[in-house]
Parts: sequence; C-alpha cells; structure tokens
Amino acid sequence: MTETSQPLHHRRKHEQKIALITGASRGIGRCLALKLAAEGATIVVNYRRSAELADAVVDEARELGADGLAVQADVENPDDIVRLFGVVQSEFGRLDYFVNNAAASAFKKVLDLETHHLDRSYAMNVRPFVLGAQEAVKLMDRGGRIVAVSGYGSMRGFAAYAALGSYKAAVESFIRYMAIEFAGYGINVNGVNGGLIESDSLEYFYTMDGMAPMQSVLDTIPLKRPGTLDDMANVIEFLLSDNSSYITGQTIVVDGGMTVSAAPYYHQTSGPLNLPDRPAAD
Ligand SMILES: NC(=O)c1ccc[n+]([C@@H]2O[C@H](COP(=O)([O-])OP(=O)(O)OC[C@H]3O[C@@H](n4cnc5c(N)ncnc54)[C@H](OP(=O)(O)O)[C@@H]3O)[C@@H](O)[C@H]2O)c1
Repeated sequence: MTETSQPLHHRRKHEQKIALITGASRGIGRCLALKLAAEGATIVVNYRRSAELADAVVDEARELGADGLAVQADVENPDDIVRLFGVVQSEFGRLDYFVNNAAASAFKKVLDLETHHLDRSYAMNVRPFVLGAQEAVKLMDRGGRIVAVSGYGSMRGFAAYAALGSYKAAVESFIRYMAIEFAGYGINVNGVNGGLIESDSLEYFYTMDGMAPMQSVLDTIPLKRPGTLDDMANVIEFLLSDNSSYITGQTIVVDGGMTVSAAPYYHQTSGPLNLPDRPAAD
C-alpha cells in the first residue's frame, strides 16, 4: 500500500519526523519527547548526566511504537553540540524539529553575580540555542521547526532569577531574528515561555535558602494551580505541528495568567473588591 493510500487512522501526527530535544531525560523535555513518540516521531533524547533516565525515555518511546536514541552531550560545550548534531546526521541524515530545552543558571541577586556566573549562564542558555540552530538549519533540508523553551523571568523581575531571566530574554530576541532569517528555508522558529511549572527544577528553586514560600506565588496565579509538564509540552507540540504553520517569531506564554496579573492582587482584597463565587443565573 502506498503512503497516500493508507487509511487516515494509520498515520500518526508526527510520523516520519526526526526530533532532537535537548535535556530530554527529565521534566518538560522528557514529557515532550514521549508526546512526540506517541505520535510516531523518532526522538533524539539529549542529556548531560542521567544516562539511565535518558535510556528509559527511549525504551518508553519504543513501547509506543516509535524509534529513538539517547545522546550524551553537554550543551555548554560547543564541541558537544557539533557532535550531537553529527550523530543526528549520521543516524538519520536529516532533522525536522529542534527543541532547545536544557537550561541551568546561578540563582543570585545582580550584585552577587560574578563573571563566571554570567559567562556560564550565557554559555548554558543562549549559546547552545544559537549554535544548535545553526547546525539544525543544515539538517532541515525539507524545512522544519525550531522551538526554544523560555521562562517568565524574561519579562518580569523576581527573586534570584536575574541571570537566567535576562538570558531567556536574549533567547526570545534570537527567536525573532531566526524566524526572519530562516523563513526562506521553510523553518518556523518560536518559543514557549513557562510560568511556575511542576518539575525537579521548581523543587530546587523553592527550597533555596531565603526563598519565599511557593504558596505565596501560587496565590497570584488566576488559574489557581501550577502548570504541569503536559501544559508546556502540549504547546511545544502544537508549535512543532502543521497546525501552527503560519506562526513564526512568537513566544507563547503558558503561565495560568500569572504574568497578566499584578499587585494589588484580587486575592488580597476584601469586601466589594473581592472576586465572588460565580454569580447565580437569573
Ligand atoms: N520548571 C519550571 O518551573 C520552568 C518554568 C519556566 C521555564 N522552564 C524551562 O523549561 C526548560 C526545562 O526545564 P525543566 O524544569 O523541565 O528541567 P529539569 O527537570 O531540571 O531537566 C533538565 C534537563 O536538562 C538536562 N541538562 C541540564 N544541563 C544540561 C547540559 N549542560 N547539557 C545537556 N543537558 C542538560 C538534564 O539532563 P540530566 O538529566 O542528564 O541532568 C535534564 O534532562 C528549561 O529551559 C527551563 O528554563 C521551566
């Protein structure tokens, strides 16, 4: 049976797509990798240290009837990035999706940021996106999709996030430039900017010495809950899919309304300013 004569239900959404996701052994990256695998994509699961976790993601992808490969590479190291994309080229010959997801930074006040904190945060969060996109473009000979994962510290200031937030802002700026420069190659470039998302890194952030209680932040979210890994991965998957083919250069905010809200917050008001339960129908 030819591909075009296959019944529609046999074709999965990301069938025959090759997807490379940095930092896919855990968290948002892992969730996305499995979502794509469930829709038939071949996933390249990049990780730095967690070989067992990365292998487990590939095993799960195979159980979902997809192919996959775990590749160790420290994206802070430019040579590792070239090697990572070299593996994609030698194994698959091409690439459809590149998701720049891995991130790490020092969490300090501006006055406490030393040169090595700034240099490493740039090397970990901005440079891999640019170097990775340069490699990805060469392999996207049929067009493709690039998505970078950002966070709300790019738009708002909050405790300990100056370095990562500022470099995420740089990533969002690169998204716009890449979108324009790569449009002629059939490559759309977008971002997904997360609010407070349940993950290992969230646990770490809110247990840092001196950090405010997580509940005080959760109280400011209009949708009254943290985001899930699925909340993020669903939007990234949308930006990789054909359903978003006319969107490029954008960063979509996935934060339950947190960043459209500001002090004085409704939950801090009382009497006539407090939000009532749903009004009864007449
Ligand atoms: N969690 C949130 O609340 C939140 C909110 C907004 C945005 N984000 C963004 O979402 C993205 C993913 O965050 P997450 O919370 O899902 O992360 P996570 O659970 O902490 O997972 C981090 C992943 O990145 C990998 N990694 C770390 N350093 C690496 C390096 N140098 N080279 C290659 N891989 C590396 C880790 O690999 P190993 O397992 O080998 O260490 C792991 O797979 C980040 O860009 C983050 O800024 C997160």
